[in-house]
Amino acid sequence: MLIKNANAYINGKFRIRDILINGEQIVKIAYCINAKNEEIIDANGLIALPGLIEIHAHLREPGQEQKEDFLSGSRAALAGGYCLVYDMPNNMPKPTITKEALEKKKMLAKNALCEIRFHFGATKNNFVEVRNAKPESMKIYLGKTTGNLVIKSNVALKHMKNFPKGKQIIVHAQDGETVEDAQTGVQTAIKLAKKATRKIHITHTSTAKEIELAKKWKLATVDTAPHYLFLNKEEAIKMKPKEKMFVNPPLRNKKEVACMWKELEKIDAIGTDHAPHLLNDKIKGAHGFPGLETALALFLDAHSKKKISLDWIATRFSENPAKIMKLNKYGKIANGYFANITLVDLRKVWIVKGKNLYSKAKWTPFEGRVLKGKVVKTIYKGKVVFTESV
Ligand code: DOR
Ligand code: ZN
Repeated sequence: MLIKNANAYINGKFRIRDILINGEQIVKIAYCINAKNEEIIDANGLIALPGLIEIHAHLREPGQEQKEDFLSGSRAALAGGYCLVYDMPNNMPKPTITKEALEKKKMLAKNALCEIRFHFGATKNNFVEVRNAKPESMKIYLGKTTGNLVIKSNVALKHMKNFPKGKQIIVHAQDGETVEDAQTGVQTAIKLAKKATRKIHITHTSTAKEIELAKKWKLATVDTAPHYLFLNKEEAIKMKPKEKMFVNPPLRNKKEVACMWKELEKIDAIGTDHAPHLLNDKIKGAHGFPGLETALALFLDAHSKKKISLDWIATRFSENPAKIMKLNKYGKIANGYFANITLVDLRKVWIVKGKNLYSKAKWTPFEGRVLKGKVVKTIYKGKVVFTESV
């Protein structure tokens, strides 16, 4: 396959280039490559981002396939520009906390349309399972959320000490409703990581202070979810039904959101926390938003309003997630890397509608938003797996 004339993010800069793909890999990048027998993709006028990597999604299979499964979740991912998705372990009724559960998920995910990898849940007594399962990453819940995976600090510390240093631990640190609760949670997580002298990644930070606290530990990285930058409590309260706005950690007020925008440079990654629930479940109090199909476009739109650079987007959605998860051959458009490429049209204006989502959620907290910028093609390991239909 040959991608012609893309404005591609290569070596930290956008440049017009042709990109030659052989099998699953990028084999040549140059100003002009002549086609022989390749399938040609005309990317004139389009931006090429390294295929997006989602480090925080809940794909719900097995157990709650009515909310999402690997097929629907991966389709949503591709439509949002993602080629690789990390799935969270808080499945109900059976969380991913044993070798058996992990193996089962790997089997089930074989029908996914993009790559799926798995975070393994830490519990108060699954140390042997962790050793046997050899997961590539671990999730520690220090704060309450959907499922029942919260562990105490002393147990978390033991996991942090035992889990191989070369692998990543993702921490849900925040507990409770208030900003102070969240900040205390992050402080605890950092204290533990320092004691264990290891890397951790703190997910869904929702206040500037959390980011500041986390970044005091040189081995900590942080992400935030789009809703902590593009939604605020005062506006969300007007949603109908009002239960739609429930998410964990909760949405923050306008002032906090403004402070978050000032911390952009310190945010290492965007994780959508794609947490699909049917509207019926939301009304009964389920927390979480679908996020895979709107995340990138929200930031592209912010770029069109000059609030954020394309470099920031490329690094936070792909390059840094690859670094955080210590992945080789992902997160860059470069020779020898996997041919995961997200083609974006910055001129395309569209309206977010829940009913058009591939996710089974079929609703979105961003309903009705007019966004400028859209994924038009997603290339996963050398194959076009999503093409925009409108
Ligand atoms: O709102 C949330 N929903 N936050 C989480 O941390 C979990 C998620 C879910 O699984 O529904
Ligand atoms: Zn989550």
